[in-house]
Amino acid sequence: MEGSTPSPTFHANEYEPTPKKLFLCSMIRMIAACAHNRVMGAGGTLPWKIKADWDYFLDTTKDGVLIMGRRCYEDFTEYARTRQVVALSRDPEIVFPHACKASNLPDGIKLAQSMGKNVWICGGEKVYRDAMTLAEELYITLIDAHFEGDAHFPPWEQYFNREISRKEIFSEGQRLTFLVLGK
Ligand SMILES: NC(=O)c1ccc[n+]([C@@H]2O[C@H](COP(=O)([O-])OP(=O)(O)OC[C@H]3O[C@@H](n4cnc5c(N)ncnc54)[C@H](OP(=O)(O)O)[C@@H]3O)[C@@H](O)[C@H]2O)c1
Repeated sequence: MEGSTPSPTFHANEYEPTPKKLFLCSMIRMIAACAHNRVMGAGGTLPWKIKADWDYFLDTTKDGVLIMGRRCYEDFTEYARTRQVVALSRDPEIVFPHACKASNLPDGIKLAQSMGKNVWICGGEKVYRDAMTLAEELYITLIDAHFEGDAHFPPWEQYFNREISRKEIFSEGQRLTFLVLGK
């Protein structure tokens, strides 16, 4: 029916967003964790295993739609089975078994919003960079430690300069600061 909630029964890789059915009220947020020098990834995965932060990520995003690049999806596949995920790739051949696919970020956001939930931008590097102007809030965990890595969270300070909340904990020998920032 026109204007009603879209059925969730579409096949993940065949879904086409219909402009008339967009849920433009859903909020766009980014979520990430980074260590010293903004390091956030190494060799296609997280450089650390910090349960408190991973649990925070899973819990914070559990009711939303996650948007992520192909490499992030490959690392997240196991969790994608129980989540709504939009994975980004420019490869027309690629199929994501447990996610919808979009070939660019604006289409990915439209697709995610059409699912009627809040949207979480989950990386990687270029996706975060492109979403800086689009997201309304940034959830960032600052890990007070040095890790080697090849993926970095882009500078965010000029986009998100309003602190909404801050919580600091010590876990597994690490000091973690959970920051929520607005514009
Ligand atoms: N600590 C954190 O919070 C956090 C969060 C996220 C990621 N990470 C880490 O960061 C690393 C992965 O990030 P990454 O930057 O290397 O890779 P990525 O963004 O996950 O994946 C890159 C690929 O995604 C696709 N893609 C990206 N942007 C696109 C766009 N705008 N339109 C269409 N397709 C797009 C392309 O796939 P095709 O080549 O198939 O076209 C591109 O090659 C991992 O180490 C991960 O653990 C850490």
